[in-house]
Amino acid sequence: MKRVQISPSILGVKKEDLIITCDKLLSSGASLIHFDVMDGEFVSNISFVDGEIDVLSNHVNESILDVHLMCSDLDKYIPLYMKENVKYITFHYEAENEEKLIKHASLVRSNNILPGIVINPSTDVESILHLLKHFSIVLVMSVVPGKGGQSFIPSALDKIEKLVSFKKENNLNFVIEVDGGINSETALLCKEKGVDILVAGSYILKSEDYKERIDSLL
Ligand code: DX5
Ligand code: ZN
Repeated sequence: MKRVQISPSILGVKKEDLIITCDKLLSSGASLIHFDVMDGEFVSNISFVDGEIDVLSNHVNESILDVHLMCSDLDKYIPLYMKENVKYITFHYEAENEEKLIKHASLVRSNNILPGIVINPSTDVESILHLLKHFSIVLVMSVVPGKGGQSFIPSALDKIEKLVSFKKENNLNFVIEVDGGINSETALLCKEKGVDILVAGSYILKSEDYKERIDSLL
């Protein structure tokens, strides 16, 4: 089975606990830290719009921050998250028109950060295939974005499979990430399809033993 990377979602972790939580996740085998930004508009909740990115950007000493923007106004939000140690900035296909998405990707890339496109469960993977040459990562949502703790929607599996084939046929090198409802069972299904990065929030963070949970996803 393919080796995957784990990107725990720290959604819901308080600002004062960010450093200790991230250190614990990284020493338990996490490769990345998934940072969910919610604007109160693209999704109804609000999260991590209050300088939390600076706390982590200044603390970690490797490029491991995986920023997921669930935001409508990308002109406003992308520059706020182009910080040191941010590896990926992913934003939604549903947020803007295609021309603007491509411009955002090149802005992110010119700041030495890898741009990514995210699709909601209701968006077909076919809608984004022609855009993928501009992106380094594709994030397949396996829940409707907006909150943690929801159940995995199986249509994500077919999308992962199609992305793996498209990537191969077209000699592209984007990585494939899945987000929402990941636990040891759904992780296995995604790995069988060839996913590269698993985001898991509640499955890891609600446990006392991060290492045991991360090991069970690998
Ligand atoms: C959902 C977020 C996810 C979420 C994952 O809107 O993008 O990253 O926090 O949480 P779980 O793993 O609990 O579904
Ligand atoms: Zn996310």
